[in-house]
Amino acid sequence: MDYAIILESVSKRFGDVWAVRDLSLRIEYGRVYGLLGPNGSGKSTTMKMILGLVKPDSGKILVDGIDVSKDPVEVRKIIGYVPETPRLYDYLTGIEYLDFIGEAYGMSPEERKRRIEEFLEAFELKGRENELISGYSKGMKQKIALIAALIHKPKILILDEPLSGLDPRSARIVKDLIHELAEEGVTTIFSTHILEIADAVCDELAIMYEGRKLAEGKPDELKRMAGESGSTLEEVFLKLTGAEDVREIVEALVD
Ligand SMILES: Nc1ncnc2c1ncn2[C@@H]1O[C@H](COP(=O)(O)OP(=O)(O)OP(=O)(O)O)[C@@H](O)[C@H]1O
Ligand SMILES: [Mg+2]
Repeated sequence: MDYAIILESVSKRFGDVWAVRDLSLRIEYGRVYGLLGPNGSGKSTTMKMILGLVKPDSGKILVDGIDVSKDPVEVRKIIGYVPETPRLYDYLTGIEYLDFIGEAYGMSPEERKRRIEEFLEAFELKGRENELISGYSKGMKQKIALIAALIHKPKILILDEPLSGLDPRSARIVKDLIHELAEEGVTTIFSTHILEIADAVCDELAIMYEGRKLAEGKPDELKRMAGESGSTLEEVFLKLTGAEDVREIVEALVD
């Protein structure tokens, strides 16, 4: 079996904090793989290490068979990445920015124009593409970042909380798009701490906590792990991450 992404015992420390600790993952081609975990559990750091933007202290990462530590440039060519807080060029218009990104990926002017038009239409941004990005709403900026990640037809998508800021209709468009791309063999890694999203979007999930992988499996398998029938992913998540006592915390807050 060939894997799109392999992590072998990867660790990363920032000072005394283990952002990621002895993490191993194997993600098959065409899968939608979710990293699910509370704030600070190492999701974004894991993604940045896969992209070669953060160097692991130890362990090995292969993307489409390429060792990231040896050829990070080649790896980034085949990945589309949406960071958790995308930095766009505020002084460009939406269309100028997307055209610039397409050009950087070596796409021809005709191909750029065609792809950009298709995406603007799909994301319901048509008519707004000639306005400056600085005037776009949060969700509109998020959509531009998604289009920028998808424009060069990447084999692998790394989406760090891509649905944050999107309304339900736009979120649905993105979810459907991820599934359709998966049919064509595109592999997606997707981070979220929203359980319903993980349940609806991912074929397989890793539950992360304090940099470690606590559990892995299909959403239904993880729900069965909770022991009782009819368990929700939220119950599994709270059980594993030791947050079952949230009620006490809330009660203390309102006292
Ligand atoms: N550049 C950095 N310098 C210092 N500490 C860092 C750095 N990047 C990450 N960390 C720490 O590593 C841990 C994991 O952070 P990370 O951003 O990977 O978490 P996350 O799961 O993406 O969280 P969130 O859900 O809030 O986005 C945190 O304790 C964070 O403070
Ligand atoms: Mg994060």
